[in-house]
Amino acid sequence: MTSAPKPDAMSASDARFAAQRLAFGPLVFHAALALRDLGILEAVMNRGDTGASATDIAGELRLSAYAVTVLLESGLGAGLVTLEQGRYRLTKVGYFVLHDEMTRVNLNFVRDICYHGAAALITSLKEQRPAGLEQLGDWGTIYEGIGALAEPARSSWFDFDHYYSSSAFPDALPLVLGTPARRLLDVGGNTGKWAVLCAEHDRAVEVTLIDAAPQIEQALARAANAGVSGRVRGTVIDLLDHSQEFPRGFDIVWMSQLLSCFAKPDIVSILKRSARALAPGGRIFVLETFWDRQKYAGASYNLQQTSLYFASMANGKSRIYDFDSVSACVAEAGLSIQDVHDGLGVSHTLLRCCVG
Ligand SMILES: C[S@@+](CC[C@H](N)C(=O)[O-])C[C@H]1O[C@@H](n2cnc3c(N)ncnc32)[C@H](O)[C@@H]1O
Repeated sequence: MTSAPKPDAMSASDARFAAQRLAFGPLVFHAALALRDLGILEAVMNRGDTGASATDIAGELRLSAYAVTVLLESGLGAGLVTLEQGRYRLTKVGYFVLHDEMTRVNLNFVRDICYHGAAALITSLKEQRPAGLEQLGDWGTIYEGIGALAEPARSSWFDFDHYYSSSAFPDALPLVLGTPARRLLDVGGNTGKWAVLCAEHDRAVEVTLIDAAPQIEQALARAANAGVSGRVRGTVIDLLDHSQEFPRGFDIVWMSQLLSCFAKPDIVSILKRSARALAPGGRIFVLETFWDRQKYAGASYNLQQTSLYFASMANGKSRIYDFDSVSACVAEAGLSIQDVHDGLGVSHTLLRCCVG
């Protein structure tokens, strides 16, 4: 027996409107990009309170009045501009599309990495593989191809990854290196941003990264540029191969935005191998985003939708997890969470874990 949906505060007409936003969402997405990239939003903003007609903007940008009208009328429906007495003015939403860094990064990531492959979502979920990834290259997971991604996909992927993790690194640094540590293992260290930050922060710290070969190469180049190459090393390990052990004897094992890239059995294996990599008294730090530990509804929304990228493009098996799912993996790996810090950077949580 199916139960009736719970009543909510929304009127039927508002609910139907929300459903239409979904129906036309992909078209509105492209219209917003066109309004941004053709310079229309900026031209409207520059006219300030006076506003501008579609014909004014068309003349200024040397576009047809048809093109500008179609886009501005879409933007009107989407809340990017207002229209009064034939003159368009920018709204706050339009301002964010134009100037907000998070919005820029997300729009470009969805356009260049996710959009085309997302049509293969159902196939991806049924076959548990990133069926959309063939739009970008012939790889089993996106991580095998990051180093070979063509532009603009390459920049959009790195901008997206770095925007979120880099915002949390300065908050995490004193929590991770607040207690003296010499040897740190960075699992999934990517282009070495964290490794170099740690090496620069404390001259006693040595960092070993684990990642795929092209990422390690970039990380070592970054370390050389920063003058810390003597204390940053890399080792190529396929984390999906549970038989590949990590190097040992580390005071700290660090992983940032890593566990969301793996299915739960792989997470447990990564955590177990991390535990074996610790020197006595060592600790594991997990920096992750959890959709159920966000202060803002918009942040939860971002993270819930990012899971669709993991499903259709990245690996077909992982997602942005809720806190309890990762906690259960930590326990299954024989670890315990010692403390939890929320609100790092834009949307991260830091877990400090110990063996036992
Ligand atoms: C989402 S990125 C996070 C990078 C970085 N830690 C950060 O916070 O910005 C995940 C990293 O894990 C690496 N990775 C994913 N799957 C892997 C695998 N099977 N073996 C080794 N590294 C892998 C990727 O290459 C990438 O650098």
